[in-house]
Amino acid sequence: MNKVAHSPCDNNAALFDAIARDIADSGYSIQAKALPQPLLDKLSDQVQAMPASDFKQAGIGRNSEHQLNQVIRSDDIVWINGATAAERAWLDWLESLKVFLNRRLFLGLSSTESHFAHYGPGDFYKKHSDAFKGQANRVLSMVVYLNRDWLANNGGELLLYREEEGQAAMKVTPSFGTIVVFLSEDFPHEVRPTQRDRFSIATWFRCNNSSAIQ
Ligand code: OGA
Ligand code: MN
Repeated sequence: MNKVAHSPCDNNAALFDAIARDIADSGYSIQAKALPQPLLDKLSDQVQAMPASDFKQAGIGRNSEHQLNQVIRSDDIVWINGATAAERAWLDWLESLKVFLNRRLFLGLSSTESHFAHYGPGDFYKKHSDAFKGQANRVLSMVVYLNRDWLANNGGELLLYREEEGQAAMKVTPSFGTIVVFLSEDFPHEVRPTQRDRFSIATWFRCNNSSAIQ
């Protein structure tokens, strides 16, 4: 038995390296079929087995109104807190990515927050930013998709906009195992209405620079 050869760092080195390189070069990274298969299967099994009643309507900000929420986003979410083996494996994987990115890019990431999201047919999330300059401590946003056999006409694409005007948005198909990572302040984005059930995990890597908040 050789434990070292199976450490998370070894398994993920090439993927983490590619994500770090992309973030440094362009502020975002899109990796198809990227999440390690055993982890992907575990998370997908869990999300498929979860009763709809576990999912709660997603909110925006702290004091926002219920009605306003529904105009902007209509997905349901479940926060991931390590209650199952799959969730613990996911949080371990996130931790190893966080450590890697801190070493490689000196990002000073201190914590993560992560939730499952379910978009039923017709659900969407209109154009928004996950963080605002000078206010938030969300540094990196990441989404992983848990949808087997996604077809081009199923909708539900993530559109990622660059801040500069006139640039075409990047379009991400929410296919099984695709990972998208981007700098939270720099890429407004939206989820186009989906035609079928769409499952994902959204994650934010934060830094606790509370002294920088004005
Ligand atoms: C979000 C988000 C994108 C997606 O939850 O903030 O933008 O593709 N999700 O699910
Ligand atoms: Mn978002």
